[in-house]
Amino acid sequence: MCPCEHQESLVLSAKFFLSYLKAPGLVGAIAPSSVFLAKALCQHARGARHIIELGAGTGAITRYLREKFPEVTLVVVEQDGPMAAALERRFGKGIVVADTIQSRQDLIKGIPDQSVVVSSLPFRSLPETIAMPVIALLRDFLLASPERRLVQYTYGQRVPFRSPHRALVWKRQNLVLRNIPPAWIWTLQQSDTKHKF
Ligand SMILES: C[S@@+](CC[C@H](N)C(=O)[O-])C[C@H]1O[C@@H](n2cnc3c(N)ncnc32)[C@H](O)[C@@H]1O
Repeated sequence: MCPCEHQESLVLSAKFFLSYLKAPGLVGAIAPSSVFLAKALCQHARGARHIIELGAGTGAITRYLREKFPEVTLVVVEQDGPMAAALERRFGKGIVVADTIQSRQDLIKGIPDQSVVVSSLPFRSLPETIAMPVIALLRDFLLASPERRLVQYTYGQRVPFRSPHRALVWKRQNLVLRNIPPAWIWTLQQSDTKHKF
């Protein structure tokens, strides 16, 4: 990492920590995702024609999604105003939506079958009034096609949230130790899918 990148990363981490102090339940972590977590998450988005990233925060994951899948349509959703503005400056206005996903459900409707949602949303600490409509939206997104997948990480061993439908099954993928705190990657998709990305 060059000195200017290191400085930028320190500034982003400080901003992230401030946003955590402002709204701990919505942010759900004290530090941005590590490079190792971001790269591991990208592995599970392979094969997608369209990617939606939920709760992009500092853009630590966005950066690798952009790098790894330059041909794929990417939409990035972030509810925190200053963080969304910084994402827009870095990745361009076209891909960043400065809003909550529950108030922009249109983003998930009418997209290709081969779509993947990569989520950093902290479901365990989100207020129920937010978590419930978002989980219902993700359920409908996944049930609409066996080719779709949710990629989510958590800081504990428990599933990120209970599967919202019997046809949808969580699979625990890898543990990423080099993250603060260490994170498990999970995928949720239709149980009888033959589609392996
Ligand atoms: C764990 S943090 C993101 C970490 C991110 N991967 C990073 O490295 O910066 C979760 C993010 O989700 C955002 N968020 C929480 N609820 C949201 C919602 N309903 N819609 C969109 N973004 C949301 C928060 O503002 C926060 O930036």
